Amino acid sequence: MIETLLTTRDLPGSALAQLLETRDASLAQRLKDCARKRCLEVKGPQVLIRALIEWSNVCRNDCLYCGIRRSRTDVPRYSLSPDQIFECCDKAWRDGVQTFVLQGGENPAAALGLVPVVREIHKRWPQAAITLSLGELPFETYAALKEAGANRYLLRHETANPKHYVSIHPEGMRLETRLACIRELKRLGYETGMGMMVGSPGQTTEDLVQDLRLMQEMGPHMIGMGPFIPQDNTPLESYPAGSAETTLRLIAILRLMFPEANIPATTALATLLPGGKLSGIQAGANVIMNVYTPQAERKKYDLYKGKSDV
Ligand code: 5AD
Repeated sequence: MIETLLTTRDLPGSALAQLLETRDASLAQRLKDCARKRCLEVKGPQVLIRALIEWSNVCRNDCLYCGIRRSRTDVPRYSLSPDQIFECCDKAWRDGVQTFVLQGGENPAAALGLVPVVREIHKRWPQAAITLSLGELPFETYAALKEAGANRYLLRHETANPKHYVSIHPEGMRLETRLACIRELKRLGYETGMGMMVGSPGQTTEDLVQDLRLMQEMGPHMIGMGPFIPQDNTPLESYPAGSAETTLRLIAILRLMFPEANIPATTALATLLPGGKLSGIQAGANVIMNVYTPQAERKKYDLYKGKSDV
């Protein structure tokens, strides 16, 4: 099964489900070892470090799982000033980190306001890659940010099952809208990232297989996934967390399906599993995102409970 996945980059849905669900620990270990080996062959021995700058937790959305959802009134809101953002970039650059990831809540007016900031970052650090993660925005804003110098955009699809998507999002949000944004980002020439939460309430193994199929269809350059982690004072606060082991197996499967993709070992994985970033690398991930958000604001970017800030 693993051999077939390695050589054909694909498997029937039933076999993918089996790899995700198996209790055979040695099979799971062979999957991760194979993915790690493939990663070393294709991407080389480097682990890429990104500087994550959580620039604002102001969000217009009300996603049921998310700790910075609009109706969560117990989180103080902040936005970094342009100078604070430049300071984060400066610190990262001096550390040798050449990719800046500007992430924030979905806020179209503020995103438009970032255009001159992105332009300035591009001017000051022309060699750096600028990655954005700012949610669903008007296509003109995506275009303006691209023109200002942004190269990459992360927009997780969260789940490929449209009904499941509706069940964990507020009224009016639809998977189709999200996918239209992802297609537009690709069309504009962004390197584009997708990904899902693993084990969000109501998700089945069949849904995860659907996630893999969707990504095969869309061809993302980057794939970010983490386990769902319940957050206090959100509608999903009393649901159980997703599985770190399933997340690791998905990383491994995705490395074999998309050998060239950049796949991070995410903070959510590390939050649930001690040493999770290393485990992610050992399962085929090749990217680590290091938090460069100023210390004073870090705990306000409170996506899920116990969020690790390294
Ligand atoms: N658990 C895990 N991941 C979460 N995210 C948001 N809330 C949670 C949560 N409770 C992830 C989503 C989103 C990214 C910014 O953070 O996948 O795309």
